Amino acid sequence: MGIEKFGNFILISILICICHGFTPQDNYLINCGSPTNGTLMGRIFMSDKLSSKLLTSPKEILASESVNNAGSDIYQTARVFTEVSSYKFSITRGRHWVRLYFNPFDYQNFKMGSAKFAVSSQSHVLLSDFNVKSTRVVKEYSLNVTTNDLVLTFTPSGGSFAFVNAIEVISIPDTLITGSPRFIGNPVQFPDMSMQGLETIHRVNMGGPLVAANNDTLTRTWVPDSGFLLEKNLAKTVSKFSTVNFVPGYATEDSAPRTVYGSCTEMNSADNPNSIFNVTWEFDVEPGFQYYFRFHFCDIVSLSLNQLYFNLYVDSMVAATDIDLSTLVDNTLAGAYSMDFVTQTPKGSNKIRVSIGPSTVHTDYPNAIVNGLEIMKMNNSKGQLSTGSFVPGSSSSSKQSNIGMIVGSAIGSLLAVVFLGSCFVLYKKRKRGQDGHSKTWMPFSINGTSMGSKYSNGTTLTSITTNANYRIPFAAVKDATNNFDESRNIGVGGFGKVYKGELNDGTKVAVKRGNPKSQQGLAEFRTEIEMLSQFRHRHLVSLIGYCDENNEMILIYEYMENGTVKSHLYGSGLPSLTWKQRLEICIGAARGLHYLHTGDSKPVIHRDVKSANILLDENFMAKVADFGLSKTGPELDQTHVSTAVKGSFGYLDPEYFRRQQLTEKSDVYSFGVVLFEVLCARPVIDPTLPREMVNLAEWAMKWQKKGQLDQIIDQSLCGNIRPDSLRKFAETGEKCLADYGVDRPSMGDVLWNLEYALQLQEAVVDGEPEDNSTNMIGELPPQINNFSQGDTSVNVPGTAGQFEESSIDDLSGVSMSKVFSQLVKSEGR
Ligand SMILES: *[C@@H]1O[C@H](CO)[C@@H](O)[C@H](O)[C@H]1NC(C)=O
Ligand SMILES: *[C@@H]1O[C@H](CO)[C@@H](O)[C@H](O)[C@H]1NC(C)=O
Ligand SMILES: *[C@@H]1O[C@H](CO)[C@@H](O)[C@H](O)[C@H]1NC(C)=O
Ligand SMILES: *[C@@H]1O[C@H](CO)[C@@H](O)[C@H](O)[C@H]1NC(C)=O
Ligand SMILES: *[C@@H]1O[C@H](CO)[C@@H](O)[C@H](O)[C@H]1NC(C)=O
Repeated sequence: MGIEKFGNFILISILICICHGFTPQDNYLINCGSPTNGTLMGRIFMSDKLSSKLLTSPKEILASESVNNAGSDIYQTARVFTEVSSYKFSITRGRHWVRLYFNPFDYQNFKMGSAKFAVSSQSHVLLSDFNVKSTRVVKEYSLNVTTNDLVLTFTPSGGSFAFVNAIEVISIPDTLITGSPRFIGNPVQFPDMSMQGLETIHRVNMGGPLVAANNDTLTRTWVPDSGFLLEKNLAKTVSKFSTVNFVPGYATEDSAPRTVYGSCTEMNSADNPNSIFNVTWEFDVEPGFQYYFRFHFCDIVSLSLNQLYFNLYVDSMVAATDIDLSTLVDNTLAGAYSMDFVTQTPKGSNKIRVSIGPSTVHTDYPNAIVNGLEIMKMNNSKGQLSTGSFVPGSSSSSKQSNIGMIVGSAIGSLLAVVFLGSCFVLYKKRKRGQDGHSKTWMPFSINGTSMGSKYSNGTTLTSITTNANYRIPFAAVKDATNNFDESRNIGVGGFGKVYKGELNDGTKVAVKRGNPKSQQGLAEFRTEIEMLSQFRHRHLVSLIGYCDENNEMILIYEYMENGTVKSHLYGSGLPSLTWKQRLEICIGAARGLHYLHTGDSKPVIHRDVKSANILLDENFMAKVADFGLSKTGPELDQTHVSTAVKGSFGYLDPEYFRRQQLTEKSDVYSFGVVLFEVLCARPVIDPTLPREMVNLAEWAMKWQKKGQLDQIIDQSLCGNIRPDSLRKFAETGEKCLADYGVDRPSMGDVLWNLEYALQLQEAVVDGEPEDNSTNMIGELPPQINNFSQGDTSVNVPGTAGQFEESSIDDLSGVSMSKVFSQLVKSEGR
């Protein structure tokens, strides 16, 4: 008894140790057709006879023999259905694994190798005209179930029967598959993964061992990649499990286990460090479907940051170039990172190739790596993951007389391979690829091209404006805003009015309705859609859709509850933000800009960074908005000379103004102005003030150079800001405002310094009470900080400023010449 307890204790500890990442709410492991429980890789599958509620089968025929003496292997029993039958699992809504185990053996008249059937859920067809010839097959699906039951229906194809050996239905974390991955070779994004049904086709641990279900927090199986490599001599493997960093906010152990991130396949260029080549894998896929790719990366090969730059290709198309993992994971070495893509159109061939190769831009350290890859088939527009004659609802609606049969196999030879488990078989099966599937696939590939998926339509998505995925009907926009009810107007900008709205499904949105007469507006409208559908980041405001019906130019964004940063600084009477809040906001915005500058492919310059373009969500998380003016960086436009200087007064980079040369550093300058705006809580241009105070950037630099910046900071911060933190922050702002772009830090440096400033603010020095105000900046002489509270910031006509409370009409009362004299002055600096 003592031993038994001890044993349980070990078992429990192991379970805790293995499953610490995620505990699934639903966890059905069903051993079909067996009166006893079975085990697979230490996991217990419950007999489907013990949970009689699962199966709708009023007339159950028990096949007699061999079950009990066959041990507890799940493959040795099966349930046979001669008519439509269903398993019904009561579940909590959300994404689930559905795994189906098939092992064809002969039982009496039922030669399971000849069975032909369909399996469907309420929303998806999983298998259609499915036949398992000779080897075992495990099918894995990931379905978002939006009802409280998941019903798996087995439908025999005319005259045949269906069978299944085991079933798993297990909850997956909601965060695992979300968002809008980019199409491969196209900047447009797939609209929404949330309702997408997926079938795992390949799940590969590059350069590492087989990882079985019991070593993965989400019970996935990962197979080694060597069987998929085209030229094995070009690749070599690396393993460093302990160096893997799971940085909060990026990939977790639920994304993929440490065993996957800690090993990789890299270029085998040891003999000749100048060699430039690709490492390529080839995978079998079923034609006629789109595929979802999830790459797992972790730079376990570099010794320092920014050493490794590489490119990623899928089917000879560029998925991503100049990938620098250390930058992507918050300047961390060996940080785990995952990257998702979707193929643009249904595949035409039954092979898909994935290649990695060194970046052509940074060639001083030619290498490329991948740590893991998942390839998943996506359901077509009819919800099918398999095309065949099966039409959901056609036969199941007729009569529900279900016959379940329990049959067992006494084939001893099967026992020999029992504990190799499904994974090995899966691996073999996939490796051999076609021979198991070609019979099922080929006849339907022709069908496949005529399925009329809404993403194929015969045309490729070359332009966002032809992309229906984001397009929202005008009627829906009218509904959402109560026909542009003026009471819902939350702002006006150069581009047009902004309304608060609510979509049918309850999503709160900000609806920006452009002024149709403006030609400039049209260009900005396009840029905004292109930029926002291409870049998706926590700290960038996301685009939900757009409407261009009846010459309308309407953009629909996620609604940002707390409006602009500017409105929380001055002029609106909102309570003032704490120093910590301000630092966090600046850090968030810096992250968004850093992402734009260094993001997936080409750097993007925002060109209109200002406090009115940084928005706050309900948790005061900062997101950068308004991409109407943004441009891809120098890489594309070698001269980077643009004809018209654009941006907002007070934030404009003097170098850009002088030389009309646009670089990321212009954004850095503008961001520097924002930093001082946040610190001093006054408009960046305030013509009502004495001359030397009009321009915030100049005014602040004057005090900063004297070392007395604390004299002009926001009064509400006094006594609450640590001198070290203020010093770091001010230095950072000062560097951003350097006259020449080359002297300014990168957004990455700015981000790092702001984080440091936050740490300095939060650090509690030993033996010193936190609220010791002698350690804080003291009170100010009030007269210096007595700024006009009126909001007099000015937009260059034609620029966006969509979320601004004030319109450009506020120019009235402001002396234009005064503003221009400011501009000329700053130009001369
Ligand atoms: C089978 O497993 C279930 C749940 O794991 C358990 O409640 C039941 O007692 C087991 N039955 C047998 C016969 O082992
Ligand atoms: C599942 O679908 C529902 C309804 O569309 C959605 O609200 C939910 O976020 C989805 N869940 C996941 C995990 O995608
Ligand atoms: C898998 O898990 C077992 C224990 O469950 C452990 O002994 C083994 O080392 C693990 N393998 C890997 C590759 O992590
Ligand atoms: C790597 O593959 C891509 C896509 O097929 C191709 O464009 C590129 O030229 C290849 N690079 C090398 C060095 O072969
Ligand atoms: C997949 O099926 C869902 C309905 O279950 C549908 O909304 C979605 O558009 C389908 N996906 C594709 C790519 O057609």
